[in-house]
Amino acid sequence: RPRVLSGIQPTADSFHLGNYLGAVRNWVSMQDTHDAFYCVVDLHAITMGHDPATLRNRSRISAAQLLAVGLDPERCTLFIQSHVPEHAQLGWVLSCITGFGEAGRMVQFKDKSAKAGQDSTTVGLFSYPILQAADILLYQADQVPVGEDQRQHLELTRDLAQRFNTRFGKTFNMPSPYIVKDTAKIYDLQDPSIKMSKSASSPNGIVELLEDPARSAKKIKSAVTDTGREILYDEENKPGVSNLLTIYAALTNRAIDELLEAYDGRGYGDLKKDLAEVLVDFVKPIQERTKLYLDDPAQLDKVLAVGAEKARAVSATTLARAYRNVGFLSPA
Ligand code: TYM
Repeated sequence: RPRVLSGIQPTADSFHLGNYLGAVRNWVSMQDTHDAFYCVVDLHAITMGHDPATLRNRSRISAAQLLAVGLDPERCTLFIQSHVPEHAQLGWVLSCITGFGEAGRMVQFKDKSAKAGQDSTTVGLFSYPILQAADILLYQADQVPVGEDQRQHLELTRDLAQRFNTRFGKTFNMPSPYIVKDTAKIYDLQDPSIKMSKSASSPNGIVELLEDPARSAKKIKSAVTDTGREILYDEENKPGVSNLLTIYAALTNRAIDELLEAYDGRGYGDLKKDLAEVLVDFVKPIQERTKLYLDDPAQLDKVLAVGAEKARAVSATTLARAYRNVGFLSPA
């Protein structure tokens, strides 16, 4: 079975529709076809400033949500990144083969550091993609299911794997991004020229899985649509409607063409009303299951402890090989 690894940051009280449709949905389906490792990347979550109690809480909420949307600890390995020390350890080694300029070319770093300003930009934010490369390479992943915004980080990961292998001998498998085109980029409901994002979207532009479903329905109904009245899939001229169609199709497993036929001659209002209903029906059971998992934190922690142990069995082997190949003396 091919190996898969992916991660998500515990940086919000809820995942949003972009996280789910762009990435996590594929995590769920890949459990049955891949040897799957998924982590809540709390080390990454402290690169922009954070509150400790909030982080702890969000790590649990993140794990509970992942279980609620369908990750099954019997069929995948779900763990918290900081429970597996090899991530930080390999991150250091990889940072020593990464060029300063190379890391500085990462678009997410440029965006986030520009927003934060020089004094608030941490070295951790700069190193972020190198740690992400360590996450992936430690598990010898073949595929990495992510949204479009992670493509550049995956390129860096591949460059680092190649460089390490060339300099120090074959150590890492070469991973490929797994990006499903249709849902690779879900857009902001209020500004369909930008992606839906926890940091950049306005509250009405982003649908959170755990928010009040009535609120989500309202957001869908007040989503920015385009001039004209016809429901067409046209990313360039009708980005708002096209985004709603993408979300609708993904949540119902229907083809966009089928939706276009069903809405032929009908207006934006109908489409939004129906999508709002679909969305409410989709999130309600997820919210109930998330709550059940959160109501039993001891059980949740146990699941995560088992996950960390399974993860370490793999990551420790890879780290030992990387340490040996890079020239570190083995401890007696
Ligand atoms: P994060 O936590 O920002 O997002 C988690 C996943 O959601 C995807 N995503 C989207 N997909 C489509 N449309 C959107 N609007 C949208 N917004 C977010 C992201 O692409 C991501 O797949 N750097 C990663 C976390 C990470 C990681 C890893 C991923 C750390 N280590 C190792 C893969 C492998 C991140 O910031 O994700």
